[in-house]
Amino acid sequence: MIMSNKNKYSLETVEKVYSYWGKSLLTYKLGVSFFGFDSYIRRKALEELKLKKGSTVVDLACGQGIMFRLLEEKIGEKGRIIAVDYVEEMIKQCRKLAARKKWGNITFIKQDAAKLRLKNNYADGIISVIGLSAIPDHKKALKNCHHALKKGSRLVVIDGKDFSSKYKFLNPILKLLRWSKSYEKKDLINDIKKIFGNIKVNEYFLGSTFMAVAVKR
Ligand SMILES: C[S@@+](CC[C@H](N)C(=O)[O-])C[C@H]1O[C@@H](n2cnc3c(N)ncnc32)[C@H](O)[C@@H]1O
Repeated sequence: MIMSNKNKYSLETVEKVYSYWGKSLLTYKLGVSFFGFDSYIRRKALEELKLKKGSTVVDLACGQGIMFRLLEEKIGEKGRIIAVDYVEEMIKQCRKLAARKKWGNITFIKQDAAKLRLKNNYADGIISVIGLSAIPDHKKALKNCHHALKKGSRLVVIDGKDFSSKYKFLNPILKLLRWSKSYEKKDLINDIKKIFGNIKVNEYFLGSTFMAVAVKR
């Protein structure tokens, strides 16, 4: 099927949709709430990152910075968070949050993750929570993550997928719950595996959410 430009998922769409989301904390929080298991699943991701005090971690497509508190607890004030998001409104909310919490160790980068060029062997970990699916050129973004990670460090991705086969009859519901445009034609798990050469996947909520961990070898 040929998609018209109007329907193509692009940076323009990202700008439009997430500028609105950035202004509305309630809508946004509901969108990333994981049916009330938000804290549980984010803590699991944090464990998988294997960060230490003083680590440098990238929060890719960080949104309003919901991951910051857990990351700060883990890395401490000598650590560094590199917060990347394409949308100005999101970065603005992140800056406000950091100022309110007096977190002085966050670097904010307003950038398309596909164009992000961090130093090679720089990061001790990269996390993306419902971020990868939102990035139009997620494959380029993944290559940039691979480049930026230190050897032995991890990329942890939490994102959505279709229900696992036993429950696939529920898939039409996802169209209603999810802003499905960004999920079209993306096989995030396979793409992570291709670029990193390894992957561990855990599924949640009958398979409709996954956590992928890939190690830079
Ligand atoms: C659902 S939100 C992320 C939620 C957030 N990671 C969290 O922990 O709750 C998706 C984010 O992806 C960002 N985004 C979309 N495309 C992007 C791109 N090309 N580069 C960087 N960020 C992007 C959006 O601006 C939005 O803030």
